[in-house]
Amino acid sequence: MKKGRVFSGARPTGRQHIGNYLGAIDNYVKLQERYDCIYCIVDVHALTTLEDTHLLKENTREMMLDWLAAGLDPEQSILFVQSHVPQVMELHTLLSMVTPLGWLLRVATFKEKVKSQPHNVNYGLVGYPVLMTADIVLYKADTVPVGEDQLPHLELAREIVRRFTYLFGEVFPEPKAKLTTFPMVLGLDGEKKMSKSYDNDIELAASPEVTMQRVKTAFTDPARKYRNDPGNPDVCNIYSLHHFYTPKRLEDIATQCRGAQIGCVECKELLAEGINKALVPFRERRAEIARRKGYIDEVLADGARRAHAIAKETIKEVREKMGLP
Ligand code: TRP
Repeated sequence: MKKGRVFSGARPTGRQHIGNYLGAIDNYVKLQERYDCIYCIVDVHALTTLEDTHLLKENTREMMLDWLAAGLDPEQSILFVQSHVPQVMELHTLLSMVTPLGWLLRVATFKEKVKSQPHNVNYGLVGYPVLMTADIVLYKADTVPVGEDQLPHLELAREIVRRFTYLFGEVFPEPKAKLTTFPMVLGLDGEKKMSKSYDNDIELAASPEVTMQRVKTAFTDPARKYRNDPGNPDVCNIYSLHHFYTPKRLEDIATQCRGAQIGCVECKELLAEGINKALVPFRERRAEIARRKGYIDEVLADGARRAHAIAKETIKEVREKMGLP
């Protein structure tokens, strides 16, 4: 017996990087054993910013390819694309009727978007958390693995569910966040969160050579200017990445950095070698899956079919409870 139903969604950002892996995918993979898992690529959410819409298809496929190569298992879990099960949009509309506008206008991510895209403050942007709620509750998920940044959205989802239940009766469980207890992975600039849009990432699927090149551009301890200066691993992002990729050498590296026995160039080479070694099985699997023609389409079609079977039942219940004739 599994412990409950997990749902999580991620926007189609294309090839995944080590920040995505350490912060989310690794956790998704592990949850598969103990929970009934549904993982979704949220293409409709991506439309709220209308950036790179011509890349949506390709980004979705590249992302699913990385998920599969990383160990998400389409036999065990439901892997699908949000828009392939259009009931989520129906539920979004219905939930919007029980969601006070004031709740949505207060959401911090909405206010940030108003600032960052003042030319495009669209209706969908305000409803972003309602669509996210619809994602989760359409499948009656009770557990939602997310990073800390998504907690306010999840709290709102719980409030929408409570209000729905109060007005129309019980259909949905109140979804609980399952925090991915993971330190934020910083990008190569050592400043901002690792992200494709900041061009500070290391792609899982990159070649060993590209990985080496990218790591070499990374910022280290800013106070260490010359090879012979002692370094401070505690403020060095390269060192923080060593935790994951060269765990056995961690103490050596810290001591040698402090004593200036190892330079930043050499330290970065060690890290890149560690990353490349850790990613050998991933990269092999990825190449193998990419060779199977039509495979990703099959996975997505099967995922949509299974997700639809659940969605259809929930929508029937919701319509009935809300009194739709
Ligand atoms: N808002 C999430 C993000 O930006 C993506 C998302 C959409 C999501 N629907 C979801 C996450 C449902 C968890 C559950 O990362």
